[in-house]
Amino acid sequence: MRFSVARLLVSALIGTAGVQAVFPRPEASDVSSALSPSSTSTAASSSSSQVCNNSPVLCDRHYNDITYMGAHDSAFLRDATTGNSVAGNQFKNATFALDAGLRFLQAQVHNENNTLRLCHTSCGLLDAGPLENWLAAVNDWVVGHPSDVITLLLVNSDNVDVSKFADAFEQSGIDKFGFTPTSKTEWPSLSQMIANDTRVVSFITNIDASTTSPHLLPEFDYIFETPFTVLELDGFNCTVDRPSNAGSASNAFSKGFMGLINHFKDQLIVGDVFIPDTNTISVVNSAATNATGNLGLHIQQCNQQWSHRPSFVLVDFWDQGTTVNAADNSNGINDATGRSSVASNSNGSSSADGVSSTRELGMGALVAFFAATLLMI
Ligand SMILES: *[C@@H]1O[C@H](CO)[C@@H](O)[C@H](O)[C@H]1NC(C)=O
Ligand SMILES: *[C@@H]1O[C@H](CO)[C@@H](O)[C@H](O)[C@H]1NC(C)=O
Ligand SMILES: *[C@@H]1O[C@H](CO)[C@@H](O)[C@H](O)[C@H]1NC(C)=O
Ligand SMILES: *[C@@H]1O[C@H](CO)[C@@H](O)[C@H](O)[C@H]1NC(C)=O
Ligand SMILES: *[C@@H]1O[C@H](CO)[C@@H](O)[C@H](O)[C@H]1NC(C)=O
Ligand SMILES: *[C@@H]1O[C@H](CO)[C@@H](O)[C@H](O)[C@H]1NC(C)=O
Repeated sequence: MRFSVARLLVSALIGTAGVQAVFPRPEASDVSSALSPSSTSTAASSSSSQVCNNSPVLCDRHYNDITYMGAHDSAFLRDATTGNSVAGNQFKNATFALDAGLRFLQAQVHNENNTLRLCHTSCGLLDAGPLENWLAAVNDWVVGHPSDVITLLLVNSDNVDVSKFADAFEQSGIDKFGFTPTSKTEWPSLSQMIANDTRVVSFITNIDASTTSPHLLPEFDYIFETPFTVLELDGFNCTVDRPSNAGSASNAFSKGFMGLINHFKDQLIVGDVFIPDTNTISVVNSAATNATGNLGLHIQQCNQQWSHRPSFVLVDFWDQGTTVNAADNSNGINDATGRSSVASNSNGSSSADGVSSTRELGMGALVAFFAATLLMI
């Protein structure tokens, strides 16, 4: 009992989602090497001065042929607002992530007292507030950045009906940007999505597609993921982990799935309790390709094994290392504009300084949380 409860909590802590049924999805557009950006130069032309997602190169590229760097558990911060909780996966919030060039935000949602809240495992462990408020803050950014397309991935931990998510999207104002695919095999270019002002693509786990809110997309109808809860630097690979019925990567791509790389490393602290690992973060979040565990290497390996550019990548502590460079390399971009550096956004002590000093503090609280939970049951 103790162990099963701990496992349940821990798997949720890391960000587990249930598995959904699968339907065929978009055929990825031209297969192109991560290292050969010229592959998309043949698409329909757009204004030469246009910049999409920080680069003119991306305007004509299909949505599903772009690598989006993403913040895993983007709402769960290890900063002053959470008492530097070790349950936090990020030092900087989603607005800073978007400013820095990330275009993919993942978070976990719970139904607490009939309100959707961003909670990590449990609202007693780390509560980042109502989903609606967070969406409103993201919406502010989207309003202010009319040439950017972003993607959201929400883990529906309590299997709440899609209509409840639709309410939060509507209240936040972000639903007006919602993109609804018209085909499961063809995605438009970024410039087409920008022209229609449908610039937010939202995936949610454990929902059924709804005609009332067609822009809220069941994740595993569209995306397959590589394994998570990786504990060793050599543990990252490109195997399809979820959904179980996607088949091999080549089968999944032939059915139109897009690939998501989970590239975050956890660390065992006690019993079955894992936390995001900051000790190896400079290796794990490096765009380099020459060391075991490098983000750049993992992306390159998946690109080679899949013969497709990975669409989504999730990292912890995105401001550490060179995560956005890794996406640029995958996209073949070296001309990015309009990003702000993390340093210039940072208030207070730097994230790197916070790593060692906050660890013990939060650890006690985390262990106490699990001890209390286990005792209650
Ligand atoms: C991030 O923090 C800034 C400054 O506190 C705030 O203005 C912004 O709304 C926050 N963004 C999110 C998504 O919470
Ligand atoms: C939900 O309700 C319970 C019982 O009234 C309360 O203890 C808890 O703090 C509430 N949760 C939130 C997030 O308000
Ligand atoms: C843009 O909007 C028009 C009119 O609603 C629609 O026919 C078209 O499919 C949309 N294009 C994209 C890329 O969503
Ligand atoms: C990839 O990692 C998962 C989880 O550790 C493992 O089950 C699977 O066998 C690995 N795939 C390969 C090809 O080694
Ligand atoms: C690995 O590559 C990075 C640049 O991508 C370089 O700075 C570093 O020196 C290389 N390390 C080794 C051991 O070759
Ligand atoms: C950062 O600090 C400056 C100056 O103290 C303040 O004006 C600003 O609101 C802060 N920004 C954030 C995002 O907290």
